[in-house]
Amino acid sequence: MKPSDINLLDPVTQEDPFACYEALLARAPVYFMPEINAYMVSSHAAIRHVVTQPAIWSIDFRAHPDAQLIKTPRARALLESEGFPRDTKLTTDPPAHTAYRAAVSKAFMPARVAAQKDFIADVVDALVAQLRQREGCEFMRDFAWTLPMRVVTRLLGVPAEDADRIKHWSDVWVEPLAYGLSEERELYVAQEEIALQKYLVAHMEAKLATPGEDILTELANAKMADGSPMPLAEKVGLAEHLIVGGHETATSALGSGMMILAQRPDIAAALRADPSRVERFVEEVLRLESPSAGFFRVAVQDAELEGVHIPAGSMVHLRFAAANRDASVFARPAELDLDRPNPRAHLAFSYGVHTCLGAPYARLELQVAFRALVQALDDIALDPSEPPPSHIPGLSLRTLKALHIRYLAR
Ligand code: HEM
Repeated sequence: MKPSDINLLDPVTQEDPFACYEALLARAPVYFMPEINAYMVSSHAAIRHVVTQPAIWSIDFRAHPDAQLIKTPRARALLESEGFPRDTKLTTDPPAHTAYRAAVSKAFMPARVAAQKDFIADVVDALVAQLRQREGCEFMRDFAWTLPMRVVTRLLGVPAEDADRIKHWSDVWVEPLAYGLSEERELYVAQEEIALQKYLVAHMEAKLATPGEDILTELANAKMADGSPMPLAEKVGLAEHLIVGGHETATSALGSGMMILAQRPDIAAALRADPSRVERFVEEVLRLESPSAGFFRVAVQDAELEGVHIPAGSMVHLRFAAANRDASVFARPAELDLDRPNPRAHLAFSYGVHTCLGAPYARLELQVAFRALVQALDDIALDPSEPPPSHIPGLSLRTLKALHIRYLAR
């Protein structure tokens, strides 16, 4: 396969991109893709280099003409007039980034994560008990969407009953990541984002009167480095980021992990026999099916990556999903290997100053879930009466549309 034949905007390629990743890694680990007007960076070493040099490779690409996810002027004007422009200040560089990250980081301290363990186990047990009453399910709907959304609503400090509404808002929010939405659809996306923003503002106001140990309370009281209150638009942007970042990716990993178990009874048996291996299984799922497949940076100055000259102002697309199959780091990269010597060397959570804040929650959710699922269900297999599972089209995220499985309760 020639790199010039690869188009990662093509839904057929997105469904099974792995041969393309192999070709890019072997022949063009840094490669300009006109379809996205960016240099696609696939090699593990080059991505590690980029994410640790924020002074050269900025995450703040607001000014770049291709940066706007909501592209039509009418949809953007609607957001700006009735809500806030789509913006998260976590996509800034140090030193500004440090203050915004600090504003939400309390909720991610080890003690706060550990305190959610019983809650997560209770949600998992309740969902697994429902699955055991049947001999099959649509796993995305019946499990993978619910657990991360229950965790996100709890972290934010909003009622669990609102999970379905927030899930809807989050799904609509990510639609522009697929590129090419009609103006009509973008207007709908903007309307729903405004509704989400109003919901978040109302809850932050309520937190001032009735504080809790949660992220919306922290955001409601958040200050800038100089002690002034953080502007409302910025607080809302951070909360939106946490909802989408905390939910879509974990849902994706739960679905991918279950799809692997349904195709690999030997792996399910190994985890059942030795539950301590679930931690390694989770890392391999993240590596092989990286939920956050790629994200952008912009070159602040002329630079070079893997011998390729990159002019100042160019966008680069860091393809975490390809780097996670880089044979120079992972032997037999396409194989799920529970005995890998470097299980956490993957870049599924990125690395450097923007490394995923929610990784400890994601790991906890995934580990508790898969430990319980393999103990509760036997003979897990894809449902042969349903079409093979396929993914929601998109450049950045990799999530199954649906996952119909059969099993026997143990
Ligand atoms: C399997 C699940 C998850 C995956 C694969 C994932 C992946 C990522 C990646 C790749 C980045 C960095 C992007 C970059 O460097 O450009 C990131 C950042 C982030 N993630 Fe996650 N994430 C997951 C779960 C979560 C959860 C559960 C939360 C919150 C509850 C969360 C919150 C965040 C936040 C706030 C950032 C921005 C950090 C910053 O810019 O300083 N993520 N995530």
